[in-house]
Amino acid sequence: MVMSLLMLHKAAVLVSIIGFFARGIGHIFQHNWITKKPVKIVPHIVDTLLIVSAVAVVAMTGFSFSDPWIVAKILGLIAYIGLGLMAFRFAKTRGAKALYWLLALVVLFYLVAVAVHKQAWPF
Ligand code: HEM
Repeated sequence: MVMSLLMLHKAAVLVSIIGFFARGIGHIFQHNWITKKPVKIVPHIVDTLLIVSAVAVVAMTGFSFSDPWIVAKILGLIAYIGLGLMAFRFAKTRGAKALYWLLALVVLFYLVAVAVHKQAWPF
């Protein structure tokens, strides 16, 4: 059960990162496909799966929500969501969109490194 949830978490992470990368390009270069309904809905489903599977894995294993690396992941996730909102909803200029998108990708890179090394500062 835990292994399946972990696989779900990893799969959701992969799809979320690929989707976020692609949507960023779509937004920055004002492609039409980013206005399609599935492009707006699917990321919410994927990110919900990512979070629910993460919480379930923590709850079902010896990890704790107060472990520094888990706290770092929760804070990083909040930063990722905030930067994504800035990039895709609030930023008006192409430069601002690109900047928030790039910062979110840096946060994603950090979160993957945190997960692999299980350290709040993995570098
Ligand atoms: C965008 C946000 C997140 C990303 C990019 C991410 C990424 C990853 C990755 C790549 C792994 C696999 C690591 C490995 O197999 O070596 C992983 C595992 C894990 N993640 Fe996340 N994660 C995120 C959010 C979260 C959150 C919010 C939590 C906690 C509430 C969490 C808890 C876990 C746990 C417990 C594992 C299992 C570690 C293990 O047993 O190897 N993740 N995560």
